[in-house]
Amino acid sequence: MAIKIHGGKFLIAGGASLVGSHLVKGLLAKNASEVVVYDPVLFDANDSLGDLKKDPRVRLVSGDVMKLHQFIKHMDGIDGAINLAAYMSLGFSQNPWDAIDVNIKGHMNFLESARINKVGKVIFASSSAVYGFGIGGPITEDMPHKVSDNPPSAVAYGSSKIIGEQLCRMYKQNYNLDYLALRFSTVYGENQHHRAANALYIIDTYERLLRGEPAQLFGDGSESKDFVYVGDVARAILMGLESDATDDAMNISGGRSTPTKELVAMIAKIVGSDLEPEYIQEDGRVRLKSGAGLYYVNTKAFDVLGWKPEMSIEDGIRRLIKTLS
Ligand SMILES: NC(=O)c1ccc[n+]([C@@H]2O[C@H](COP(=O)([O-])OP(=O)(O)OC[C@H]3O[C@@H](n4cnc5c(N)ncnc54)[C@H](O)[C@@H]3O)[C@@H](O)[C@H]2O)c1
Repeated sequence: MAIKIHGGKFLIAGGASLVGSHLVKGLLAKNASEVVVYDPVLFDANDSLGDLKKDPRVRLVSGDVMKLHQFIKHMDGIDGAINLAAYMSLGFSQNPWDAIDVNIKGHMNFLESARINKVGKVIFASSSAVYGFGIGGPITEDMPHKVSDNPPSAVAYGSSKIIGEQLCRMYKQNYNLDYLALRFSTVYGENQHHRAANALYIIDTYERLLRGEPAQLFGDGSESKDFVYVGDVARAILMGLESDATDDAMNISGGRSTPTKELVAMIAKIVGSDLEPEYIQEDGRVRLKSGAGLYYVNTKAFDVLGWKPEMSIEDGIRRLIKTLS
């Protein structure tokens, strides 16, 4: 089912997030009549929503995906709901108990609340973590999950997203709840937080260079990432809501491989640093390893939704860094 955003009502679980802040902005720009941000964060000066909270169409609910009764109540009258609430690999390593609860049981509560309230369509924030880590080359939607030689927290996180997608399929089969699962690659941009390992590397590198310390490259620097700008991700979610497509999963990625060596050179250029990077070996931190030439093929998202990324990595990194300084 396609959802009309103009005049529609939306709920974003985990909406005080990096992606949530850009999604709220996108929904308001398309004249949604109400956006419920359902998130347990204290809505204070430190959340990522900023002035968006002043818009009378934004309703802030200090909501917990684990409280089904509360969830059901706030999903009343909602046309489209988006589940962004999750713990990522770092969160999984720090607090696996809450991570399992939020990513799996919380997601089921999200689907159940949507079913009970006859929500027209839901979007699930899935992840390229469903393919595992340590892989290289082009990755398409039909590829299996690679478990071996990865941090257990990353495997657990990717597995929670696989389960999340399957719960969506189950609700479609059993109750005809329309859904799309969008598998984001590494998301970055304004309001960047410290909770995602890959984007954290950008912040760490920037801060090291500012302090006059050399950037650190693991191995020979050929490991590669596929970054997708958060504004492009929010646009994909809007297009997913507006599309008739259902019961499907697809990559939402930059579709371009960036070796960490190139990324570091890009950040150094922006900072104006000519310090040579230092090459280091594993030091025990939770890291999402990847092979050379990694990227997630995003042609399915174009075929199904008409979506493709628009932001260049250089411009996107500049935007991120501007909000750090
Ligand atoms: N950031 C990335 O690189 C990336 C990549 C792939 C997929 N994703 C997925 O996209 C989504 C959004 O990512 P993000 O980087 O914006 O996340 P984020 O870490 O900024 O936000 C997650 C939000 O979930 C909320 N949350 C935690 N526990 C909750 C609970 N019990 N009830 C309700 N809300 C709760 C948090 O308060 C937070 O605002 C997540 O599901 C993530 O797994 C992110």
